[in-house]
Amino acid sequence: MTNPTQTGGSSKERVLIFDTTLRDGEQCPGATMTFEEKLEVADALDIMGVDIIEAGFPIASEGDFEAVSEIARRLKRATVAGLARAISADIARAGEAVRHAAKPRIHTFVSVSPIHLEYQMRKSQQEVLDIITATVTQARNLVEDVEWSGMDATRTPIDYLCRAVETAIKAGATTINLPDTVGYATPDEYRAMFKSVRERVPNADKAIFSAHCHNDLGLAVANSLAAIEGGARQVECTINGIGERAGNAALEEIVMALRVRGDVLPYETGIDATQLMRVSKAVSGACSFPVQYNKAIVGRNAFAHESGIHQDGMLKNNTTYEIMTPASVGVTKTSLVMGKHSGRAAFRSKLKEMGYELGDNQLEDAFTRFKALADRKKHVYDEDIEALVDENIATAHDRIKLESLTVIAGTRGPQRATMKLDVEGRHVTEEVEGNGPIDAIFNAIKAIVPHEVALELYDVHAVTEGTDALAEVTVRLSRDGSSVTGRGADPDTLVASAKAYLVALNKLIARGGRLHAQAAE
Ligand code: KIV
Ligand code: ZN
Repeated sequence: MTNPTQTGGSSKERVLIFDTTLRDGEQCPGATMTFEEKLEVADALDIMGVDIIEAGFPIASEGDFEAVSEIARRLKRATVAGLARAISADIARAGEAVRHAAKPRIHTFVSVSPIHLEYQMRKSQQEVLDIITATVTQARNLVEDVEWSGMDATRTPIDYLCRAVETAIKAGATTINLPDTVGYATPDEYRAMFKSVRERVPNADKAIFSAHCHNDLGLAVANSLAAIEGGARQVECTINGIGERAGNAALEEIVMALRVRGDVLPYETGIDATQLMRVSKAVSGACSFPVQYNKAIVGRNAFAHESGIHQDGMLKNNTTYEIMTPASVGVTKTSLVMGKHSGRAAFRSKLKEMGYELGDNQLEDAFTRFKALADRKKHVYDEDIEALVDENIATAHDRIKLESLTVIAGTRGPQRATMKLDVEGRHVTEEVEGNGPIDAIFNAIKAIVPHEVALELYDVHAVTEGTDALAEVTVRLSRDGSSVTGRGADPDTLVASAKAYLVALNKLIARGGRLHAQAAE
């Protein structure tokens, strides 16, 4: 078979980037995305040059199925994968979801470790081998491109792992993924595992090997790079490293490690790194999941130099303290200062500089919000614009919108909120008391749109400095064991709180929750 990881002419070997932001990433508590947000993220990943996009887990829900099908239909470049357990109905559903893709893939997985076999699967090793043959064969009858994953591979005895891999390849798997499901491996162990399996399995040359690392010990990226050294030519990762528990290996870190350290890691990817920042923001905005300030590559401090010595060095020559330029990952320093006199053209050009491409309606909305902000705030920084545009994108498809809010707060309670919401085109007002202003605001939302949820997180931080800074509020709501996160920004912390709650609530509604607005009764 031809190896798609060989590049003509280049001395570097090609490593395929498999992005699972929309599947493993979305499994991260609170990181749920709506249908439209998933499409936006898939488009951004495709444009950036991701080779394979795992768009979801089609059997998991109708919403997941619809999102995978629509992404499969619209992407012309990347391979679109749907995940399936080693169950016939899962594989059929994944096959149906990806069947309109230009390049469809079914990704099926089964546990192989003794711990999983004994406690979770309650199956013998031979039974699992039989399952692998049956399920990979079924998938291969539906599509040419089948990936098989041996879940918890890193806690599996090597002899059995080799038998499982050989069985999967014999049944037609074209990619073999050996995940470090629980983030337990060290780089040396993970490198050795790939080397050993590739040497010992007789038909190993018929498949591409893939790494999939979780970050429980903070080793996901190091392990992914070690796997490449051990012979893996596909790495599975997510934007901003979001994912189950401590997350998955971060795409942007793997791509930049290979680029910056090409001297010791002679491998290349097809990723346009100048889009990393833009895609990071798109994902963070879509799933309302903030990027930690000191996150490598895409954190807001990643290129900030605070100490005098560092600043002195940077002024003399930026290579003194920078191993890559901000521009190489899409961080642009801008010369345009925005304020209340800035017009539409300057605003549009600023957004372009910052990596945003908005449609006419979104641009108009963002411009209106920018003007309102500029009236209230002397200096409008890039971070302020970023916050208002991200919020604009996040709320574009909302069914419940904030129209107005007045809060009476202070030392003499009870605090009182008067809120007007647009609930699918109807305008409803309520005046409600609470134990503090935030409680009053959230009670007002509940009075207009009755619903049962638990408030898991309420967090406020200032986007920029000064008492007129934008406040950014994050709210996480949970219901029936699953949670969603919403973010809202406004110079008024109370308004930002209402917005954040509504973003989260709209996500619950988009998931098909049964919420009844008074307006609709
Ligand atoms: O971590 C894991 O093992 C997975 C598999 C489904 C590939 O996500
Ligand atoms: Zn995983």
